[in-house]
Amino acid sequence: MIADRQPAILTRGLARSFGPVSAVSGFDLEVQRGEMFGLVGPDSAGKSTAIRLLCGILKPTGGEGHILGFNLATEAEQIKSRIGYLSQAFTLYGDLTIDENIEFFAAIHGVRGFQKRRNDLLDFTRLAPFRKRLAGALSGGMKKKLALACTLIHTPEIIFLDEPSTGVDPLSRGEFWNILSDILEQGVTILMTTPYLDEADRCHRIGLMNKGRLIQTGTPDEVKATLPGIVFKIECADLGAAYRTLKQKWPAAGLVLYGDRLNLWTPRGDADAKASVAWLEQQKLGPVALSPISPSLEDVFVALLGSKQAPGGES
Ligand SMILES: Nc1ncnc2c1ncn2[C@@H]1O[C@H](COP(=O)(O)OP(=O)(O)O)[C@@H](O)[C@H]1O
Ligand SMILES: [Mg+2]
Repeated sequence: MIADRQPAILTRGLARSFGPVSAVSGFDLEVQRGEMFGLVGPDSAGKSTAIRLLCGILKPTGGEGHILGFNLATEAEQIKSRIGYLSQAFTLYGDLTIDENIEFFAAIHGVRGFQKRRNDLLDFTRLAPFRKRLAGALSGGMKKKLALACTLIHTPEIIFLDEPSTGVDPLSRGEFWNILSDILEQGVTILMTTPYLDEADRCHRIGLMNKGRLIQTGTPDEVKATLPGIVFKIECADLGAAYRTLKQKWPAAGLVLYGDRLNLWTPRGDADAKASVAWLEQQKLGPVALSPISPSLEDVFVALLGSKQAPGGES
């Protein structure tokens, strides 16, 4: 098999149970080299378990998978040397400096002559001026950048990032995304999980996970196009009250509350939208403005999963 012609990730029916809990099941995924793929889903959907299966850290209880052409069941060692994994609970050594943390990870991976690679990583994560600072004294955003640098020290072909931007302030998140773009340009494949739907929108393709299953995959636009019916924008003075009363009247409707509007989706579209306006006016919440808009990823996820389970948006 010519490994470098294989997709970065290819799984068929991959599954993992913990006793009676089916954390991941029927997981079919194909990711091409150079792609940025985002796994999105509510808490406990199985995102972290899926990543750990793909890294060869967890043994599957069913199905099969190939990473860069190597078999997860029989070639885990070849896989591990070619991938990087930034876990949700990734810990740096707080009493070591930035330089020393990277050196430590270089030693774990047996990277010889790591200094040049370290300099490059510090340059493009813009951490070079702080290299003598203790990791314990860094801000959340800088810690994530250092963790990313440690994950990249052995020049992996794929990196798996489990919620890399959780706990990072919005400004640093922007910078983190610029760094991820640089990494993509170097030809590295990225598979990440994120609870932020605005971040999912920036991936080449995304997969929506719920209850251990991949229920939808495609480019963000393809996923948005799968939503039947129309999403309406509702504007009125008291959006919070409008949200609560509509939620009560039509529990099955997809409702997303933003600062300046309410997005409404129902499978029946037009008729329900008009009925909603009439209901709001009857509740003395008028005047109400209604107009169709293109759905956001959040609208799609709320429609597919129900708002209680939908992952959080960033609006
Ligand atoms: N080591 C484990 N032992 C038992 N149950 C687990 C373990 N890891 C995950 N689970 C369960 O598997 C499901 C999926 O968890 P996880 O993959 O962490 O989801 P996510 O990352 O999407 O929040 C959850 O119900 C979780 O409790
Ligand atoms: Mg997780």
